[in-house]
Amino acid sequence: MARNGERDDPPRGLSRRAFLRGGAAAGVLGTGLLRGVPPAEPAAAAKTGAGAPIVGPGPVPMNFRINGKAVSARLEPRVTLLDALRTRFELTGAKKVCDRGTCGACTVLLGGKAVYACSILAIDAQDAEVETVESLGSVEKLHPLQAAFVENDAQQCGFCTPGFVVAAKALLDRNPAPTLAEVHHGLSGNFCRCGTYAGIRQAVLQVAQAAAADPGFAPGLPGAPGVKARKREDEAVDPGEKRKKKKKKRKGGGRHGRR
Ligand code: FES
Ligand code: FES
Repeated sequence: MARNGERDDPPRGLSRRAFLRGGAAAGVLGTGLLRGVPPAEPAAAAKTGAGAPIVGPGPVPMNFRINGKAVSARLEPRVTLLDALRTRFELTGAKKVCDRGTCGACTVLLGGKAVYACSILAIDAQDAEVETVESLGSVEKLHPLQAAFVENDAQQCGFCTPGFVVAAKALLDRNPAPTLAEVHHGLSGNFCRCGTYAGIRQAVLQVAQAAAADPGFAPGLPGAPGVKARKREDEAVDPGEKRKKKKKKRKGGGRHGRR
C-alpha cells in the first residue's frame, strides 16, 4: 500500500512471490534465535587506551560516603559532585556560584581535603569520604566556627559563608594555631563579594585561640566552648607599636597621656 504518495513495491528484479518467501525465511531464522539458538558473542565492553572500562553516557550506579552515611544513586558520569550533592542528596549547603572552580562557594571536604565540588566529577568522589557544611553543626548546635562567624559579623548575604566555614575547618584541621598570614593564605581560594574578610579571619583566629586555651576544645565537635571575641583584624595593633605606646604612656606623653 502506498503511504504519503510513496510506493512500497518489492525491490527491483524480484518477483512479489520471491520477496514474500525471503521475508518468511528471515522470520523463521529470527524465531530460531529466540528459541535458544546461541546468539553471537556480545561485543566486549569498550575500554580506553589505558584499559579502563568506558562508562556512560547514560546513568550508572554510584556509591558514596557523605557525612558519615553510605548513599547511592544512578548518575550520568558527567555529573559534578556539587550537582549530585544539591540535586540528588538534597545537601544544598555548598553553593553553586561560579561553577568553574573560582569562587570557593562550593567547597566541601573530600578525604579531609578542601575541594571545589563544582570541579570534581561525582564518579571520581566515590572512594573518599565527602563532608559538607551540613556535617559540622545544626541551627540548634552550631559548630564553633559557625558560632564565631556569627559573633564576628563574618557574613552579609551569606552565599560564600558555607564555603568559607568548610575551608576554615580544613585549615584548622591541618594547622590548629595559624597566624593571621596563614589564615589569609589558607582561605585564599574563597571569595566574598560582600567583603567580610576581616570578620572571617577574626572568626578563624578566635576559634584557634579557644582551642589553644582549652585542651578539651576540639574544632571538629559541635558545641565546643567559645571564647570572648578578640580584637578584629582591622583594629589589631602591631606588638612593636603597642610597646612604644606603653612607653610613651609611662612617660606621660602621647595624645592620651596624662598631663
Ligand atoms: S561554585 Fe565552585 S568554585 Fe565557584
Ligand atoms: S557574605 Fe556575601 S559573598 Fe560573602
